[in-house]
Amino acid sequence: MRRYRRYAVAVIVAVLVVALGVLAAGCSGNSESDSQPSSQPPASSGGSSASTGTTDGGVDPAVQEAQQLVEVRCSMCHSLDRVWAAKKTRDEWVVSVDRMKRNGLVVTEEEYATIVDHLASLSNK
Ligand code: HEC
Repeated sequence: MRRYRRYAVAVIVAVLVVALGVLAAGCSGNSESDSQPSSQPPASSGGSSASTGTTDGGVDPAVQEAQQLVEVRCSMCHSLDRVWAAKKTRDEWVVSVDRMKRNGLVVTEEEYATIVDHLASLSNK
């Protein structure tokens, strides 16, 4: 009998510990979600700020891919600072990237076009 009781007490304690853990987690989760609504009204009152958030979140995957291609291909011989520092027109980039090919840059036709397009779009800003 005694053994059984001890076992039962151990089970109850274990269940309480787990329940407390769940409650604690639930409470902290609640307090977080409580603080969010209070910070929302200013954001929702400005309709323009909401649209800015959408543009920030929606980065064009093609642009990201082109950016990565430049970072991989153009960082082999010199730092990318050299690339980002250069402000060139599209034609000037064609001349430069052609020269990089003579320097030893290896790119496919497709990569070449993507790189030139991307660099030209950065300089247009
Ligand atoms: C195989 C090595 C190599 C690779 C790969 C390379 N470069 Fe260069 N880059 C050089 C060397 C060498 C120089 C300095 C001599 C010169 O200007 O040609 C240079 C200089 C430059 C310059 C400064 C001169 C200028 O034309 O304004 C820019 C900008 C540049 N590289 C951009 C790029 C870009 C963009 C890529 C990727 C498409 C790239 N490089 C990839 C070797 C390389």
